Amino acid sequence: MFVAMFSVRMRVALGVITALLIALVSSTYALADGPWPNDPQGPQAKTIADLYWIMFVAAVIVLAIVDGGIIYAGIKFRERPGHVAKQFHGQNFLELTWTVIPTLMVVSFSVLSWQKLDFINNTRSSDVGMVIQAQGSQWTWTFSYPHEDRFKLLDNTYLQTGEELHIPVGMKVRIELSSKDVIHSFWVPSIGGKKDAVPGRATELWVQADKPGTYKGQCFEFCGDGHADMLITLVADAPSQYAAWAQQAVKDANVFLDPATKVGREQFFSLACVGCHTIDKTTAQGKIGPNLTHLMSKKSIAAGALSPVNEENLTRWVSNPPAVKPGTLMPNLGLSQQQVHDIVLFLQTLK
Ligand code: CUA
Repeated sequence: MFVAMFSVRMRVALGVITALLIALVSSTYALADGPWPNDPQGPQAKTIADLYWIMFVAAVIVLAIVDGGIIYAGIKFRERPGHVAKQFHGQNFLELTWTVIPTLMVVSFSVLSWQKLDFINNTRSSDVGMVIQAQGSQWTWTFSYPHEDRFKLLDNTYLQTGEELHIPVGMKVRIELSSKDVIHSFWVPSIGGKKDAVPGRATELWVQADKPGTYKGQCFEFCGDGHADMLITLVADAPSQYAAWAQQAVKDANVFLDPATKVGREQFFSLACVGCHTIDKTTAQGKIGPNLTHLMSKKSIAAGALSPVNEENLTRWVSNPPAVKPGTLMPNLGLSQQQVHDIVLFLQTLK
């Protein structure tokens, strides 16, 4: 066989080299699309990356010296025909060198890290421009925005979002972490370090992005089945875009708070509607009927039977679906005229 041509030592060496190559290639693939710590896009991530590179370079130099020394000694002093392996007993200078230098290195790395940690962990400095609460729960994050007018909703509560966390570019933002159930961990590698969200305990970190963009993050503490999909999308907007985003987000949230459509909304969510229909980001998650999130942007309802989508057609449809389209899966719920009116008022907010 092919391998039989090689000595045992050669085969072991080839095996090790192959394994290393496979590890290198597969890790490169795995990282190609995911969050990658060494792509710092903010001051905190930059500090961590700098520390990383200093230690990495030092480690490579140490590796080269130590392995170089071993290989050199192994070849130079080895036993071979007509040559007895050289015997050593101590070498004061060398032993002192490889004790003192590593000690100095470890001490300086510690001091350096200590100094940087002050900066990395300083969530209470005077330049914090905004405080956002992040709550981890199986398996999502909920972000609560500050009690500022621009985040205020119709019912006097303040904006909350899921999945996406929006921050303004160039601003130091303190994230106050909490957990609803088990331990989660907040980590957006290109923006900063990671911090656990622990039930019953307050923890915090700060983030800052230098450039507008979307940065991927991942829950970093195994928290159950959905852990791998517990993602964070951190969006950093330029200040003007941030204002526009806040305005839109508040508007979207207000749709579900508007007193004018409150009755219809409550009807919709308490009647059979939610059993069949989905409205994104609400408790209506039925899958039998069409998704109504953007109902008013559709060209028709009842699979084309009624067009355009307006108050009149919605009223006809909701009052008695089978009368409009015989055989439709949507039953006649026997709603009163008032109920139909209220529900249609609410449906018209689904833009
Ligand atoms: Cu939450 Cu892992």
